[in-house]
Amino acid sequence: MRKLMMAALLIAVCSAGVSQMPVANSKIAPTLAPTPPMGWNSWNHFDKNVTQQDVMDAADALIKSGMRDAGYVYVNIDDTWEGDRDASGMLHSNAKFPDMKALGDYLHAHGLKFGIYSGPGPLTCAHYAASEGHEQQDADLYASWGVDYLKYDLCSFKKTDMDPATAAHPDDPQAANRLMREAYVKMRVALDHTGRPIVYSVCQYGWDNVWTWGPAVGGNLWRTTGDINDTYARMTELGFGQAGLAKFAGPGHWNDPDMLEVGNGKMSTEEYRTHMSLWALLAAPLIAGNDLSKMSDDTKALLMNKGVIAIDQDPLGKQGDRLRAEGLLEIWTRPLAGGALAVGLFNRVTAPATISVTLKELGIKSPHEIVNVWTGEKVEAKGGVISAIVPNHGVLLLRITP
Ligand code: GLA
Repeated sequence: MRKLMMAALLIAVCSAGVSQMPVANSKIAPTLAPTPPMGWNSWNHFDKNVTQQDVMDAADALIKSGMRDAGYVYVNIDDTWEGDRDASGMLHSNAKFPDMKALGDYLHAHGLKFGIYSGPGPLTCAHYAASEGHEQQDADLYASWGVDYLKYDLCSFKKTDMDPATAAHPDDPQAANRLMREAYVKMRVALDHTGRPIVYSVCQYGWDNVWTWGPAVGGNLWRTTGDINDTYARMTELGFGQAGLAKFAGPGHWNDPDMLEVGNGKMSTEEYRTHMSLWALLAAPLIAGNDLSKMSDDTKALLMNKGVIAIDQDPLGKQGDRLRAEGLLEIWTRPLAGGALAVGLFNRVTAPATISVTLKELGIKSPHEIVNVWTGEKVEAKGGVISAIVPNHGVLLLRITP
Protein backbone atom coordinates (compact mmCIF):
# COMPACT_ATOMS: atom_id res chain seq x y z
CA MET A 1 0.00 0.00 0.00
CA ARG A 2 2.76 2.35 1.04
CA LYS A 3 4.63 1.51 -2.18
CA LEU A 4 1.51 2.22 -4.21
CA MET A 5 1.00 5.58 -2.51
CA MET A 6 4.61 6.52 -3.14
CA ALA A 7 4.23 5.60 -6.80
CA ALA A 8 1.05 7.68 -7.09
CA LEU A 9 2.78 10.64 -5.46
CA LEU A 10 5.73 10.31 -7.81
CA ILE A 11 3.44 10.24 -10.84
CA ALA A 12 1.56 13.31 -9.56
CA VAL A 13 4.77 15.25 -8.98
CA CYS A 14 6.17 14.27 -12.37
CA SER A 15 3.02 15.14 -14.27
CA ALA A 16 2.69 18.45 -12.40
CA GLY A 17 6.23 19.25 -13.56
CA VAL A 18 5.46 18.31 -17.14
CA SER A 19 2.14 20.14 -17.22
CA GLN A 20 3.90 23.31 -16.10
CA MET A 21 6.19 23.14 -19.09
CA PRO A 22 5.22 25.97 -21.42
CA VAL A 23 3.82 25.22 -24.88
CA ALA A 24 3.36 27.55 -27.86
CA ASN A 25 0.10 26.14 -29.22
CA SER A 26 1.23 27.50 -32.56
CA LYS A 27 -1.19 26.98 -35.42
CA ILE A 28 1.38 28.26 -37.91
CA ALA A 29 4.45 26.20 -36.96
CA PRO A 30 3.09 22.78 -38.00
CA THR A 31 2.22 24.13 -41.46
CA LEU A 32 5.84 25.14 -42.18
CA ALA A 33 8.82 23.07 -43.34
CA PRO A 34 6.94 19.97 -44.60
CA THR A 35 10.40 18.78 -45.71
CA PRO A 36 13.72 19.77 -44.10
CA PRO A 37 14.59 23.40 -44.95
CA MET A 38 17.23 23.92 -47.65
CA GLY A 39 19.27 27.02 -48.23
CA TRP A 40 22.47 28.82 -47.28
CA ASN A 41 23.76 30.43 -44.08
CA SER A 42 26.61 32.90 -43.70
CA TRP A 43 28.28 31.51 -40.56
CA ASN A 44 30.43 28.55 -41.58
CA HIS A 45 32.36 30.51 -44.19
CA PHE A 46 31.98 34.23 -43.46
CA ASP A 47 31.78 33.96 -39.69
CA LYS A 48 31.62 37.45 -38.10
CA ASN A 49 32.73 39.24 -41.29
CA VAL A 50 29.58 38.76 -43.35
CA THR A 51 28.20 41.84 -45.14
CA GLN A 52 25.01 42.62 -47.03
CA GLN A 53 27.02 42.41 -50.28
CA ASP A 54 28.20 38.90 -49.37
CA VAL A 55 24.59 37.85 -48.84
CA MET A 56 23.50 39.38 -52.18
CA ASP A 57 26.42 37.59 -53.87
CA ALA A 58 25.35 34.33 -52.23
CA ALA A 59 21.81 34.87 -53.51
CA ASP A 60 23.06 35.53 -57.04
CA ALA A 61 25.23 32.42 -56.86
CA LEU A 62 22.29 30.30 -55.69
CA ILE A 63 20.43 31.34 -58.82
CA LYS A 64 23.33 31.10 -61.29
CA SER A 65 24.59 27.74 -60.05
CA GLY A 66 21.15 26.15 -60.18
CA MET A 67 21.06 25.63 -56.43
CA ARG A 68 17.88 27.64 -55.97
CA ASP A 69 16.13 25.47 -58.53
CA ALA A 70 17.48 22.37 -56.80
CA GLY A 71 15.69 23.51 -53.62
CA TYR A 72 18.15 25.74 -51.73
CA VAL A 73 15.84 28.71 -51.20
CA TYR A 74 16.55 30.10 -47.72
CA VAL A 75 19.24 32.78 -47.58
CA ASN A 76 20.05 33.08 -43.90
CA ILE A 77 22.12 35.78 -42.27
CA ASP A 78 23.68 34.42 -39.10
CA ASP A 79 25.15 36.41 -36.22
CA THR A 80 26.74 39.91 -36.51
CA TRP A 81 24.13 41.78 -38.54
CA GLU A 82 22.77 43.48 -35.39
CA GLY A 83 23.35 47.14 -34.52
CA ASP A 84 22.02 49.24 -31.63
CA ARG A 85 18.57 49.80 -30.21
CA ASP A 86 17.23 53.36 -30.39
CA ALA A 87 15.36 55.18 -27.63
CA SER A 88 12.15 53.33 -28.47
CA GLY A 89 13.93 49.99 -28.20
CA MET A 90 13.82 49.43 -31.94
CA LEU A 91 16.79 47.43 -33.17
CA HIS A 92 18.76 48.61 -36.20
CA SER A 93 21.09 46.61 -38.39
CA ASN A 94 24.75 47.63 -38.22
CA ALA A 95 26.85 49.34 -40.91
CA LYS A 96 27.62 46.00 -42.61
CA PHE A 97 23.89 45.70 -43.45
CA PRO A 98 22.75 49.14 -44.66
CA ASP A 99 19.27 48.13 -45.85
CA MET A 100 17.59 44.96 -44.62
CA LYS A 101 14.25 45.72 -46.25
CA ALA A 102 15.93 46.13 -49.64
CA LEU A 103 17.77 42.85 -49.05
CA GLY A 104 14.51 41.06 -48.24
CA ASP A 105 12.85 42.53 -51.33
CA TYR A 106 15.79 41.47 -53.49
CA LEU A 107 15.61 37.89 -52.22
CA HIS A 108 11.85 37.64 -52.69
CA ALA A 109 12.05 39.15 -56.19
CA HIS A 110 14.41 36.30 -57.08
CA GLY A 111 12.35 33.43 -55.72
CA LEU A 112 14.37 33.14 -52.51
CA LYS A 113 13.47 33.38 -48.83
CA PHE A 114 15.01 35.51 -46.12
CA GLY A 115 16.43 34.14 -42.87
CA ILE A 116 17.76 35.99 -39.87
CA TYR A 117 19.35 35.28 -36.49
CA SER A 118 18.81 36.31 -32.87
CA GLY A 119 18.49 34.78 -29.43
CA PRO A 120 16.44 34.79 -26.22
CA GLY A 121 19.23 36.27 -24.09
CA PRO A 122 20.45 39.86 -23.94
CA LEU A 123 23.31 39.09 -26.35
CA THR A 124 24.01 36.76 -29.25
CA CYS A 125 26.89 34.28 -29.19
CA ALA A 126 29.11 36.89 -30.89
CA HIS A 127 27.97 39.47 -28.29
CA TYR A 128 25.66 41.48 -30.50
CA ALA A 129 22.20 42.64 -29.37
CA ALA A 130 19.69 39.78 -28.97
CA SER A 131 15.98 39.81 -28.25
CA GLU A 132 15.44 39.47 -24.48
CA GLY A 133 12.67 41.87 -23.45
CA HIS A 134 12.11 42.93 -27.08
CA GLU A 135 10.60 39.76 -28.54
CA GLN A 136 7.49 41.28 -30.14
CA GLN A 137 9.31 44.40 -31.27
CA ASP A 138 11.96 42.28 -32.99
CA ALA A 139 9.46 39.86 -34.50
CA ASP A 140 7.54 42.83 -35.94
CA LEU A 141 10.77 44.26 -37.31
CA TYR A 142 11.67 40.96 -38.99
CA ALA A 143 8.19 40.74 -40.49
CA SER A 144 8.51 44.31 -41.82
CA TRP A 145 11.71 43.22 -43.59
CA GLY A 146 10.01 40.14 -45.04
CA VAL A 147 11.83 37.59 -42.91
CA ASP A 148 10.76 33.96 -43.48
CA TYR A 149 13.07 32.07 -41.09
CA LEU A 150 14.54 32.81 -37.65
CA LYS A 151 17.45 30.98 -36.02
CA TYR A 152 17.14 31.65 -32.29
CA ASP A 153 20.36 30.92 -30.46
CA LEU A 154 20.41 30.43 -26.68
CA CYS A 155 23.98 31.62 -25.86
CA SER A 156 23.77 34.36 -23.21
CA PHE A 157 20.34 33.38 -21.93
CA LYS A 158 20.45 33.15 -18.11
CA LYS A 159 23.91 31.76 -18.57
CA THR A 160 24.99 32.42 -15.01
CA ASP A 161 22.24 30.15 -13.71
CA MET A 162 23.11 27.20 -15.89
CA ASP A 163 25.70 24.52 -16.11
CA PRO A 164 27.08 25.10 -19.63
CA ALA A 165 27.40 21.36 -20.26
CA THR A 166 23.78 20.49 -19.55
CA ALA A 167 21.93 23.80 -19.25
CA ALA A 168 20.84 22.56 -15.85
CA HIS A 169 20.44 24.90 -12.94
CA PRO A 170 22.63 23.58 -10.12
CA ASP A 171 19.76 23.71 -7.60
CA ASP A 172 16.70 23.25 -9.76
CA PRO A 173 17.32 21.83 -13.24
CA GLN A 174 13.63 21.67 -14.03
CA ALA A 175 13.19 25.35 -13.27
CA ALA A 176 16.08 26.29 -15.53
CA ASN A 177 14.76 24.15 -18.34
CA ARG A 178 11.30 25.62 -17.91
CA LEU A 179 12.77 29.12 -18.26
CA MET A 180 14.53 28.10 -21.45
CA ARG A 181 11.37 26.61 -22.95
CA GLU A 182 9.41 29.67 -21.90
CA ALA A 183 11.89 31.86 -23.77
CA TYR A 184 11.47 29.79 -26.94
CA VAL A 185 7.69 29.88 -26.61
CA LYS A 186 7.76 33.65 -26.17
CA MET A 187 9.44 34.19 -29.54
CA ARG A 188 7.23 31.66 -31.36
CA VAL A 189 4.17 33.46 -30.05
CA ALA A 190 5.65 36.81 -31.12
CA LEU A 191 6.44 35.46 -34.60
CA ASP A 192 2.92 34.07 -34.99
CA HIS A 193 1.51 37.39 -33.81
CA THR A 194 3.05 39.11 -36.85
CA GLY A 195 0.84 36.96 -39.07
CA ARG A 196 3.86 36.07 -41.22
CA PRO A 197 4.69 32.37 -41.55
CA ILE A 198 8.23 32.24 -40.12
CA VAL A 199 10.19 28.99 -39.87
CA TYR A 200 11.61 28.71 -36.35
CA SER A 201 15.07 27.21 -35.90
CA VAL A 202 15.72 26.43 -32.24
CA CYS A 203 19.45 26.59 -31.52
CA GLN A 204 20.48 25.45 -28.04
CA TYR A 205 22.88 22.64 -28.98
CA GLY A 206 20.60 19.74 -28.06
CA TRP A 207 20.43 20.53 -24.36
CA ASP A 208 17.73 18.93 -22.25
CA ASN A 209 16.79 16.48 -25.06
CA VAL A 210 15.30 19.32 -27.10
CA TRP A 211 13.94 16.77 -29.61
CA THR A 212 11.35 15.74 -27.01
CA TRP A 213 9.96 19.29 -26.62
CA GLY A 214 11.01 21.15 -29.78
CA PRO A 215 7.58 20.79 -31.43
CA ALA A 216 5.79 21.94 -28.25
CA VAL A 217 7.60 25.29 -28.30
CA GLY A 218 6.75 25.66 -31.99
CA GLY A 219 10.18 24.77 -33.36
CA ASN A 220 10.39 23.62 -36.97
CA LEU A 221 13.94 22.40 -36.49
CA TRP A 222 16.25 22.22 -33.52
CA ARG A 223 19.97 21.79 -33.28
CA THR A 224 20.77 18.43 -31.71
CA THR A 225 24.48 19.16 -31.31
CA GLY A 226 27.18 21.73 -30.66
CA ASP A 227 28.83 23.45 -33.61
CA ILE A 228 30.13 21.61 -36.63
CA ASN A 229 33.52 22.42 -38.16
CA ASP A 230 35.18 21.54 -41.44
CA THR A 231 36.79 18.29 -40.30
CA TYR A 232 35.83 14.69 -40.95
CA ALA A 233 36.20 13.94 -37.22
CA ARG A 234 33.68 16.57 -36.09
CA MET A 235 31.27 16.09 -38.98
CA THR A 236 31.05 12.33 -38.36
CA GLU A 237 30.90 12.76 -34.58
CA LEU A 238 27.77 14.86 -35.08
CA GLY A 239 26.26 12.88 -37.96
CA PHE A 240 26.70 9.35 -36.65
CA GLY A 241 25.79 10.63 -33.18
CA GLN A 242 22.20 11.04 -34.41
CA ALA A 243 21.45 7.34 -33.98
CA GLY A 244 18.20 6.85 -32.10
CA LEU A 245 16.71 10.29 -32.80
CA ALA A 246 14.67 9.31 -35.87
CA LYS A 247 11.35 9.02 -34.09
CA PHE A 248 11.44 12.66 -32.99
CA ALA A 249 11.53 14.09 -36.53
CA GLY A 250 8.78 14.43 -39.10
CA PRO A 251 7.10 16.91 -41.43
CA GLY A 252 7.23 20.37 -39.80
CA HIS A 253 9.74 19.38 -37.09
CA TRP A 254 13.28 18.22 -37.83
CA ASN A 255 16.43 17.24 -35.98
CA ASP A 256 19.27 19.53 -37.05
CA PRO A 257 22.84 18.21 -36.70
CA ASP A 258 24.09 21.65 -37.91
CA MET A 259 24.84 23.25 -41.24
CA LEU A 260 26.90 21.87 -44.12
CA GLU A 261 30.65 22.36 -44.49
CA VAL A 262 30.67 21.06 -48.08
CA GLY A 263 32.97 23.22 -50.22
CA ASN A 264 34.81 24.89 -47.34
CA GLY A 265 37.91 23.04 -48.39
CA LYS A 266 39.25 21.03 -45.47
CA MET A 267 37.63 17.67 -46.22
CA SER A 268 38.18 15.44 -49.25
CA THR A 269 35.50 14.97 -51.89
CA GLU A 270 34.87 11.49 -50.50
CA GLU A 271 34.40 12.94 -46.99
CA TYR A 272 32.02 15.62 -48.25
CA ARG A 273 30.10 12.85 -50.04
CA THR A 274 29.77 11.14 -46.67
CA HIS A 275 28.58 14.46 -45.17
CA MET A 276 25.84 14.91 -47.81
CA SER A 277 24.79 11.25 -47.79
CA LEU A 278 24.52 11.11 -44.02
CA TRP A 279 22.61 14.39 -43.79
CA ALA A 280 20.19 13.14 -46.48
CA LEU A 281 19.62 9.86 -44.62
CA LEU A 282 19.06 11.90 -41.44
CA ALA A 283 16.43 14.11 -43.10
CA ALA A 284 18.63 16.96 -41.91
CA PRO A 285 18.16 20.54 -43.05
CA LEU A 286 20.54 21.15 -45.97
CA ILE A 287 21.91 24.58 -45.24
CA ALA A 288 25.06 25.15 -47.29
CA GLY A 289 27.78 27.05 -45.47
CA ASN A 290 30.39 27.69 -48.15
CA ASP A 291 31.28 30.71 -50.30
CA LEU A 292 28.80 30.13 -53.10
CA SER A 293 30.34 32.77 -55.33
CA LYS A 294 33.57 30.72 -55.57
CA MET A 295 32.33 27.13 -55.94
CA SER A 296 34.27 24.47 -57.82
CA ASP A 297 32.40 22.10 -60.13
CA ASP A 298 33.14 19.40 -57.60
CA THR A 299 31.35 21.34 -54.84
CA LYS A 300 28.39 22.03 -57.13
CA ALA A 301 28.12 18.32 -57.93
CA LEU A 302 28.18 17.48 -54.22
CA LEU A 303 25.51 20.02 -53.28
CA MET A 304 23.25 19.43 -56.26
CA ASN A 305 23.09 15.68 -56.77
CA LYS A 306 19.39 15.20 -57.54
CA GLY A 307 19.17 11.70 -56.06
CA VAL A 308 20.73 12.77 -52.77
CA ILE A 309 18.45 15.80 -52.48
CA ALA A 310 15.45 13.59 -53.27
CA ILE A 311 16.35 11.34 -50.33
CA ASP A 312 16.72 14.31 -48.00
CA GLN A 313 13.45 15.84 -49.20
CA ASP A 314 11.48 12.60 -49.39
CA PRO A 315 7.79 13.40 -48.83
CA LEU A 316 7.30 10.58 -46.32
CA GLY A 317 9.40 12.66 -43.94
CA LYS A 318 10.85 9.76 -41.97
CA GLN A 319 14.37 10.20 -40.65
CA GLY A 320 16.81 7.32 -41.15
CA ASP A 321 18.74 5.47 -38.49
CA ARG A 322 21.64 3.11 -37.97
CA LEU A 323 20.84 -0.47 -38.98
CA ARG A 324 24.13 -1.95 -37.86
CA ALA A 325 27.72 -1.02 -37.09
CA GLU A 326 30.75 -3.26 -37.06
CA GLY A 327 33.50 -1.17 -35.61
CA LEU A 328 33.85 1.80 -37.92
CA LEU A 329 31.81 0.28 -40.76
CA GLU A 330 28.22 1.46 -40.48
CA ILE A 331 25.00 0.73 -42.35
CA TRP A 332 22.20 3.29 -42.17
CA THR A 333 18.77 3.08 -43.76
CA ARG A 334 15.92 5.49 -44.37
CA PRO A 335 12.41 4.48 -45.45
CA LEU A 336 11.17 6.51 -48.41
CA ALA A 337 7.79 7.17 -49.97
CA GLY A 338 6.31 4.39 -52.10
CA GLY A 339 8.02 1.62 -50.17
CA ALA A 340 11.52 2.60 -51.35
CA LEU A 341 14.55 2.50 -49.10
CA ALA A 342 17.74 4.55 -48.93
CA VAL A 343 20.79 2.71 -47.68
CA GLY A 344 24.21 4.10 -46.80
CA LEU A 345 27.24 1.84 -46.41
CA PHE A 346 29.77 4.02 -44.59
CA ASN A 347 33.46 3.32 -44.17
CA ARG A 348 34.89 5.44 -41.36
CA VAL A 349 38.27 3.71 -41.57
CA THR A 350 41.32 5.28 -43.25
CA ALA A 351 41.68 2.41 -45.75
CA PRO A 352 39.19 0.98 -48.26
CA ALA A 353 36.92 -1.71 -46.80
CA THR A 354 34.39 -4.23 -48.04
CA ILE A 355 30.91 -3.73 -46.61
CA SER A 356 28.09 -6.20 -47.21
CA VAL A 357 24.42 -6.36 -46.37
CA THR A 358 21.75 -8.86 -47.33
CA LEU A 359 18.39 -7.92 -48.82
CA LYS A 360 16.84 -9.96 -46.05
CA GLU A 361 18.46 -7.77 -43.41
CA LEU A 362 17.12 -4.74 -45.26
CA GLY A 363 13.63 -6.26 -45.27
CA ILE A 364 13.45 -6.32 -49.09
CA LYS A 365 11.19 -9.12 -50.35
CA SER A 366 9.61 -7.99 -53.59
CA PRO A 367 11.41 -7.43 -56.92
CA HIS A 368 13.39 -4.25 -56.77
CA GLU A 369 15.87 -1.98 -58.49
CA ILE A 370 19.06 -0.87 -56.74
CA VAL A 371 20.79 2.33 -57.84
CA ASN A 372 24.05 3.89 -56.72
CA VAL A 373 22.70 7.37 -55.98
CA TRP A 374 25.94 9.29 -56.59
CA THR A 375 26.72 7.68 -59.97
CA GLY A 376 23.27 6.66 -61.17
CA GLU A 377 24.59 3.16 -61.94
CA LYS A 378 22.59 0.00 -61.29
CA VAL A 379 23.85 -2.25 -58.51
CA GLU A 380 23.31 -6.00 -58.37
CA ALA A 381 22.56 -8.00 -55.24
CA LYS A 382 24.24 -11.28 -56.19
CA GLY A 383 22.66 -14.12 -54.25
CA GLY A 384 20.68 -11.55 -52.26
CA VAL A 385 23.81 -9.79 -50.99
CA ILE A 386 24.91 -6.24 -51.71
CA SER A 387 28.65 -6.05 -51.30
CA ALA A 388 31.04 -3.25 -52.19
CA ILE A 389 34.51 -1.96 -51.57
CA VAL A 390 33.90 1.44 -50.02
CA PRO A 391 36.75 3.98 -50.15
CA ASN A 392 38.33 5.30 -46.95
CA HIS A 393 36.05 7.82 -45.22
CA GLY A 394 33.61 7.16 -48.07
CA VAL A 395 30.11 5.88 -48.63
CA LEU A 396 28.06 3.82 -51.03
CA LEU A 397 24.61 5.45 -51.05
CA LEU A 398 21.85 3.31 -52.56
CA ARG A 399 18.22 3.77 -53.42
CA ILE A 400 16.24 0.55 -53.51
CA THR A 401 12.90 0.86 -55.28
CA PRO A 402 10.30 -1.91 -55.34
C1 GLA B 1 26.58 29.56 -32.08
C2 GLA B 1 25.79 28.72 -33.09
C3 GLA B 1 26.46 28.84 -34.45
C4 GLA B 1 26.51 30.31 -34.87
C5 GLA B 1 27.22 31.14 -33.82
C6 GLA B 1 27.12 32.63 -34.12
O1 GLA B 1 27.86 29.04 -31.85
O2 GLA B 1 25.71 27.40 -32.68
O3 GLA B 1 25.75 28.08 -35.41
O4 GLA B 1 25.21 30.78 -35.06
O5 GLA B 1 26.68 30.91 -32.52
O6 GLA B 1 27.70 33.43 -33.14
